[in-house]
Amino acid sequence: MTMDANDFETVKQRIKDAIDLVDLVQEDTPLTRRGRTFVALCPFHKERTPSFTVYPDTQHYKCYGCGVSGDVLTFVMEREGVSFREAMEMLGERAGVSTEGVFGRGRGGAGSRQRAIHEVLEQVRELFEATLHDERVGAQARSYLEQRGLLDAAREFGLGLHPAPGRLAAFARQRKLPLEVLEQAGLLAGDGAEPMRGRLMFPIVDERGRPVGFGGRILPDPRIPKGEDRRPKYRNSPESPFFNKRRLLYGLREVKRAGTRRIVVVEGYTDVIALHLAGFTGAVATLGTALTADHGRLLERYATEGVVLLFDGDAAGRRAADRAFRELVHTPLSVRIALLPDGIDPADLVAIEPTRTAAERDAGRERLAELIEAAEDAVAAWFRILRRDVDLTDDAQVQRVAAECGRILAGVDNRARAEALRAAMAARLGLSPAAIEIPAAPRRAAAAEPEPVRPTARRPVAPTKHEQADLDALACLLAAPELGERLRELPGETAAWLDRFLGWIEQGLAAGRRSRDVIVPWLFGRCEDDADARAVLAEAVDRSARIRDPRQVFAMVEAGRVRQAARQEARRMRALVQQALADGDAARADELTRKYQEVLRRSGAAGAGNP
Ligand code: UTP
Ligand code: MN
Repeated sequence: MTMDANDFETVKQRIKDAIDLVDLVQEDTPLTRRGRTFVALCPFHKERTPSFTVYPDTQHYKCYGCGVSGDVLTFVMEREGVSFREAMEMLGERAGVSTEGVFGRGRGGAGSRQRAIHEVLEQVRELFEATLHDERVGAQARSYLEQRGLLDAAREFGLGLHPAPGRLAAFARQRKLPLEVLEQAGLLAGDGAEPMRGRLMFPIVDERGRPVGFGGRILPDPRIPKGEDRRPKYRNSPESPFFNKRRLLYGLREVKRAGTRRIVVVEGYTDVIALHLAGFTGAVATLGTALTADHGRLLERYATEGVVLLFDGDAAGRRAADRAFRELVHTPLSVRIALLPDGIDPADLVAIEPTRTAAERDAGRERLAELIEAAEDAVAAWFRILRRDVDLTDDAQVQRVAAECGRILAGVDNRARAEALRAAMAARLGLSPAAIEIPAAPRRAAAAEPEPVRPTARRPVAPTKHEQADLDALACLLAAPELGERLRELPGETAAWLDRFLGWIEQGLAAGRRSRDVIVPWLFGRCEDDADARAVLAEAVDRSARIRDPRQVFAMVEAGRVRQAARQEARRMRALVQQALADGDAARADELTRKYQEVLRRSGAAGAGNP
């Protein structure tokens, strides 16, 4: 075999030659020289005296505490949580060594595709940022940020403003940006609409600071009275191959930069920014979803001095704390929980709003510092939350909670930790530890996208036609849950609230809940503290009582969706035809017109074939 320049071993060696392990480690973990070697507190386990050693001569590391060892590539794999291939690509990029073709032709180029995505999103981010800082266009948005005391962090967090309708699409065209990337990031819809237009844009970056998605917040509309704005407050990029909400934490890069090792998890983007500005440099937030096991692993790496969950004391905040407890209990992290007074955001306490005097600001900062200091141990806090709904003087309820504790502990691999938790839980229940039975099978469920902790799909007062159809769909599912599979396959968008119910129904099915009489009470249990979801469910239950043949009704819902999707496609085609005409490309316009007519025929056919 001849020696190919892009031979795997050759490229790997070139990368290893080009990158110095000491420099690489140093960026993430401070090293101290000791003779011919360097030592550090091990980034892979918790320790008080340094046993992590880097050998510059042989370019390898070893920890004498936990036993990890390896080279530049394994270091990146472990630290960034990436595959071998991704580590090669990341280091290749850094070293200026091309990995093109190294991993075979067919799948090759994933790395450069990833890079292209980041570059595209970075260009878009810069457009948003320039719009926010534009003298005239960004004035209102800047003054909003200013009033909330957030403007000083605009540059550091790369905040932006989504420009006037059509500007983003024009920008993308002019720069020849691939539209699929913008569509996948939720910035462009199939029909050419701009779902985040006019919004304040919070770029969401990966640990290396490259944008992977956006959160878009509405700016208050002076014409709409306070509290009556029905638009969703935030729109976020949807889950995609490059945007994974289970493992992203807003603000993590700033935490890494600041080197803070006690991490405070808050709920909102604005909270992260306000805390950061007030000097609480350990603040991160999930992207509006519950904490996941992946977040737990991420926190394990950075929160060597523990985690404080700082959530709103309202129902959604309590639910978020409960979920976070259940995930973080698997990690060796020291977790404490502080619940704020109902309806108060951490940002409300510390934001440097211009109307606040210096003394008021100091007082807010002190109050927050106290709250963080006073955060309770996670088990204690979890029981406090639980006691709002459960009467622990009632034996039957104590038994139920004990069983639930057992299930939670079943997932804790570390025996000593599980035992300590069991004792703490038992004490709070007034039981002996042995009374909490730990079932053998560990629980483990992984969904595609973590559930939002604050469901955002508020149902408007009068349901639209599509919502009527979604309500019918839910009603059908209550009677025939196996229809869920077909709902999953429908084209077009499923409303977030319906998607949540569908997830629960599938969970229920998996646990053998098939009949309506079992499903309905169970679902009510799931949305206990969400009045909107309960209202939707109640309405669907009503409807389902009137449905004789759920399959027939569901078929109508299906047909409606198919028609709707075809119409959307037709709209998109029409826009393309107009674009081609505007560009003076007559041949392309002709070709597109033929396709457009084809789509029209299909949407008509889909409509004609059904009652
Ligand atoms: P909050 O309503 O507390 O928002 O939701 P916030 O970030 O503090 O914003 P301000 O202070 O009102 O400006 C907390 C998080 O929940 C997600 C977002 O990630 C938000 O930061 N969320 C909230 C959504 O995804 N969609 C929504 O409609 C609302
Ligand atoms: Mn807020």
